[in-house]
Parts: sequence; C-alpha cells; structure tokens
Amino acid sequence: MEQVSSPVDAVADNQEHDAAGSTALKKVFVKTYGCQMNVYDSERMEDALTQDGYVKTDDINDADLVLLNTCHIREKAAEKVYSAVGRIRKIKEKHAKQGRQVTIGITGCVAQAEGKEIMRRAPAVDLVAGPQTYHDISKMVARAEKGERVISTEFEIEEKFAKLPAPTKKQTIARGLAAFLTVQEGCDKFCTFCVVPYTRGAEVSRSVNQILDEANRLADAGVKEVTLLGQNVNAWHGSLDGQKWNLGELLYRLSDIDGIERLRYTTSHPIDMEQSLIDAHRDLPKLMPYLHLPVQAGSDRILKAMNRHHTKDQYLQIIERVRQARDDMAISGDFIVGFPGETEEDFEETLDVIRQVKYASAFSFKYSPRPGTPGADLDHQVSDEVASERLTRLQALLREQMTEFNQSCVGKEIDLLIEKRGKREGQVLGRSPWLQTVVVSGDASEISKTLRVKVSEAGPASLNAVRI
Ligand code: 5AD
Ligand code: SF4
Repeated sequence: MEQVSSPVDAVADNQEHDAAGSTALKKVFVKTYGCQMNVYDSERMEDALTQDGYVKTDDINDADLVLLNTCHIREKAAEKVYSAVGRIRKIKEKHAKQGRQVTIGITGCVAQAEGKEIMRRAPAVDLVAGPQTYHDISKMVARAEKGERVISTEFEIEEKFAKLPAPTKKQTIARGLAAFLTVQEGCDKFCTFCVVPYTRGAEVSRSVNQILDEANRLADAGVKEVTLLGQNVNAWHGSLDGQKWNLGELLYRLSDIDGIERLRYTTSHPIDMEQSLIDAHRDLPKLMPYLHLPVQAGSDRILKAMNRHHTKDQYLQIIERVRQARDDMAISGDFIVGFPGETEEDFEETLDVIRQVKYASAFSFKYSPRPGTPGADLDHQVSDEVASERLTRLQALLREQMTEFNQSCVGKEIDLLIEKRGKREGQVLGRSPWLQTVVVSGDASEISKTLRVKVSEAGPASLNAVRI
C-alpha cells in the first residue's frame, strides 16, 4: 500500500481533471446533513453521477445539479430543507435568465418522509428520492433534466446495494485513508421517539461477499481505516459457506485483510451486543477500543416507554463485560432528555448511568416529537424549559468526563495514522485509537504513515503528541 499517492495529491489531481473538463461536463454539488450513513450515501451517489458524466463541485453557484441529502432525526429538519431550497431557487432563477438549467434534488430521510409535501410546497424542486432508490439516481436526474418532476420513495435496499456502482480507485484515493462501509441499513427496533424505522425501513444486512469485496477494494486503493456503518450495525448478520455470521465473525474476517490497519463500527444497540463482538474486542488488535453504545435514558420506566428492550442494569452489565474484554475501551453514548413523562427522579437515573460508565464522548439531545412516531402522541410532554435545564446539567457532567478522559491519555504511547495536514504549518493530524484528533509536528509527506507518538497534552477538542 505504500506506493499510493497521498490523499492531498489525489485531491489536487481531481481538481485538475475538473478544471480540464469544465466546458463539457455538468457539475454536481451535494450537501449532506445528518449521520455518517448519509455521508456514505452521498459518496455513493457522487460515484454513480461522476461515472455518468458529472464532475463534483464544491461551489453551489457553479452547479448544474444540486442535491440536498437530508436528515429527519430531529426537529426543524423539513424547515431547514425549505429554507435551503429557497436560497438555491434564487441561483436557479438567476442561471435560467442566462439560459442555464439548474436541477434541484432532495434525497435522504426528509425526502422519504415528506416527499409529496416537498413537491407540493416547493415547485423549484425537480427530484425527490428516498434513501433506498439511489441506485437509480443517474436515471432519475436525467428524467428531471428533461423537465419531469420525479418522485421516488420505494423500499428496495438490497437492490440499492447490488446496483450502486463502486467508486473508481481514483475516487477512493481522493477520499483519504479512512473510509465508511455500510453493512446494514434500516431498523426494526421502533424506539418510540425515532423516525428511522419509517424513513430507512426494515433492517437489511448486506451479504458477506459484497462487504468483503468492498473492503478489499478499499484496501487496494490504500484505505487503512474502515468504519462499518449501520443504523443497528451490531444487528448485522449474514452467512458464508453454510455458517451463520454476526458482526463479531465479520470483524475477525475483515481483520485478515492486509492493508486495513484499523476497524471501527457504529451505531450499536445494547440488545445486539453479542459475545462474539465482545470477544473480537479482546482478540483483534485492529479493532479500535471504542464503542458507541447509546443508552438514551437511565430510568427503567422511561427505557420501557422508549421501547428500548433493556434496563439500566443490563446496559451497565454490557459495558462491564466489554471493559473486561479490553480495559482501555472508550465508551461513547447518545442521550435524550425530556422524553414524555420524564421526572426529575428519572433524569437522575440518567445522570447515574453517566457517573457509572464515565464516557469518553457523547451526543445529547432534547427530546423532539417526530410526526408519526408513538412518542409524539404521548401525554405529559416535558416543557422546553425543563428539558433545556436538564440538558445543560447533563452536558456539564459529560464535558467533565470527556476532559478527564482526554487528560487520562497524557503520557500514553500510541500508533498514530497520519491523515492530513494540521491547521498550522509544520503540523499533521491523525486519530487516536479512541477517536480523538491528535496533532503532531510533521509534514505532508508523512500522510498515510503510522507514527509511534506519546501524548503530551490534552486540549478540550484534541490531543497534542510528540514523536518517540
Ligand atoms: N428526539 C431527540 N433525539 C433523538 N434521537 C433520535 N430521535 C430523536 C428524537 N425524536 C437521537 C438518539 C439517537 C440519535 C441518533 O439521535 O439519541 O441515538
Ligand atoms: Fe432509532 Fe431506536 Fe432504531 Fe436507533 S434503534 S435507529 S434509536 S428506532
């Protein structure tokens, strides 16, 4: 893998190509909202479109096709889309006066959930495509360019994965040393606050062969870190040669691929934390010691109302088992405050989970009633004032823990995969095994190398390190 040109060179390479092709090729601008799965999907759509005659642009004013890949997980999602469309409409109108066509497409979870409404309310939108239809993106765009208003919100995940074209080696190289690989999509859990089961559909796992092919292709293009993605990534299951596999078995197999140095996965559900996955953390040096395991709330009553299928103690026991398997595990989580009916005592239980687990990182949110979810119809919605106050307290505790975790890394020696230039001259950046950004002195020629460094200082958002 050493001969692979650095991502920096590769990006420059692509830009030259863009400039050279600018008169002939149409340009696509993709804006991605929300989770890593959307980032992955945007990349796959870009791959498909660039193989069908488009080039990527980072300048929306220069685009012939603008795709907004949207997220519906929390409030104001649709409003954000409408206001973005309002801004793009002005660009579209300006270009139309000069005889140039701009096509606007809305993809992602807002498209899935509110596609028809978008078409009705926003006449400037030419295309609405849900997450399971991206394998047809080029065809849909071609129809929209001919003046048809296209709406596609079918559910055919297997077809999507089978038909989406793989990126070229050059495209993969341009994206850098760390890549996402979707192994599972959709969700059957139906947490009562969440829109995902409605926007992404039922849980579907990609086949072992498809995943291994994609991982080998990434390794061949010089990718060194692969993050497996899924809304319930640890619910992934498959089979090979008559053997049933779950995520643990898959990780053992992926760990055998030369060139891939680091493996991660996200996001997991506590009830799918199988023993083989925990064992993989014990056995596989390539599997990074980091687990994102959302608990959402600490009170058993609220966990039940959320339909989480686990108790506070069961969650804590899983964390305990994971830490027994590997004692340097960093734990990350998601929290929701102000779920309907949450009392001060319930909230204290959430704080108690946080105190017991000691998180290295976390995402925390005020509950946002999502249309069509059971939570939205529950009585005793918590006032915004109370929810805000709880969120402030919860985040203060989490911030304290993150600072403590970062401090605890000072003095540790780690392997650092250098990914890019730092903000300052003479600095390069990588990620620690625990996903923190680490800054070390160096130059761009070291990108893609793994350096042995010692953490010297912990800041609020990153670590500094020195070479050893
Ligand atoms: N309100 C607030 N937070 C939510 N999440 C999902 N749905 C909602 C909602 N309705 C959070 C959960 C989930 C993360 C991706 O987003 O914590 O784990
Ligand atoms: Fe949403 Fe719950 Fe499924 Fe996660 S497990 S995607 S929170 S329904």
